[in-house]
Amino acid sequence: MRMVDLIAKKRDGLVLTKEEIQFIIDGFTEGSIPDYQMSALSMAIYFKGMNEQERADLTMAMVNSGDTIDLSAIEGIKVDKHSTGGVGDTTTLVLGPLVAAVGVPVAKMSGRGLGHTGGTIDKLESVEGFHVEIENDEFIRLVNKNKLAVIGQSGNLTPADKKLYALRDVTATVDSIALISSSIMSKKIAAGADAIVLDVKTGAGAFMKTIDDSVELAKAMVSIGNNVGRQTMAIISDMSQPLGYAIGNALEVKEAIDTLKGEGPEDLTELSLTLGSNMVYLAKKADSLEEARTMLEKAIADGSALESFKVFLAAQGGDASVVDRPEELPQAKYTFELEAKEDGYVSEIVADEVGTAAMILGAGRATKDSVIDLAAGLMLRKKIGDEVKKGDSLVTIYSNFEDVSAVKEKLYENIILSSEKVEKPVLIHQSIT
Ligand code: URA
Ligand code: CA
Repeated sequence: MRMVDLIAKKRDGLVLTKEEIQFIIDGFTEGSIPDYQMSALSMAIYFKGMNEQERADLTMAMVNSGDTIDLSAIEGIKVDKHSTGGVGDTTTLVLGPLVAAVGVPVAKMSGRGLGHTGGTIDKLESVEGFHVEIENDEFIRLVNKNKLAVIGQSGNLTPADKKLYALRDVTATVDSIALISSSIMSKKIAAGADAIVLDVKTGAGAFMKTIDDSVELAKAMVSIGNNVGRQTMAIISDMSQPLGYAIGNALEVKEAIDTLKGEGPEDLTELSLTLGSNMVYLAKKADSLEEARTMLEKAIADGSALESFKVFLAAQGGDASVVDRPEELPQAKYTFELEAKEDGYVSEIVADEVGTAAMILGAGRATKDSVIDLAAGLMLRKKIGDEVKKGDSLVTIYSNFEDVSAVKEKLYENIILSSEKVEKPVLIHQSIT
């Protein structure tokens, strides 16, 4: 086989076989296929696409390019959740304890990474003593015992995807449904999931800005999952504004605690219940989504979801007393209110720009060596559709430095008021199975 012939084949819109895709991924991973040929192929895929079988074959070739995690020692169906990324998305912190409380095993491998706020691990490290540096067998023991544990990313997972994503980033080939769907699914499958629930975000703060694009991506991922024997479902959810009120690490832990108590923001609660119901259903702990939802609502109402969070934190060295005393989480030295300059209705909260404001405060990493300030961040006081009077607080800014004028300016530019009444955005657009 010659790579040049395979590039030409895809350029001409033909279908690559499983063996050809395997040859490409093997060669690219080990270095016998150079970046310039892989770039040309990526561009051909960008224009000509891939059919369902090709996408499934590409996904599995990337899964097999490195280590895979074996979770077979954990009893039950391991369901993983993946979000395509948003701002202030606290659902992972809520969902873990919530579905664990009804018996779904959650074996979460998580990362830090760049972004507006830290990753799940950074957020959890707001809890004194909590750590994810545990051995694999301890991880498995904890999931079997408590139904929930989080471990740091380890091993050499999907090296082909890492290399290809870096190449796509500099060759204008990121925005390809075939390449995005196989990239995301390869990582979930390598991490050992038996079944997968996807939260595909749509709107200004999301990777996919329109519903049509989000639906297409969701369908592509669901089809890959189902084609390779991992039952997969997707929810299309709104990311035209940040989810919940909190954007920051300790602030989101507090928001997750509130939600597990049944006192969280409406949108975060609803999305957590929706995604959670799908997880419980795929784990075969309920016969229908309705039954699953009722179980989760009960776990919130009777305190078992909150208890599951405490047990999980304590098992990994965390001081679980913060669940009852969230004021013991890291606190910022200063708070400032962003006051509305006029009366009106909130019409837009540009999610990614507001996320960047949180990052400037130190809530997220601008570069991989940045140090996160766990206490820093934002609490939205108003969401789209809310009425505002001049002088009302739109946002509370939590900061460890005194001059937040640049942050205020950014927030004023990206929280837009209208004199006319504004409808609240629809939170959940569609469910795809
Ligand atoms: N996220 C991924 O993991 N891969 C992509 O290709 C795009 C977004
Ligand atoms: Ca939030």
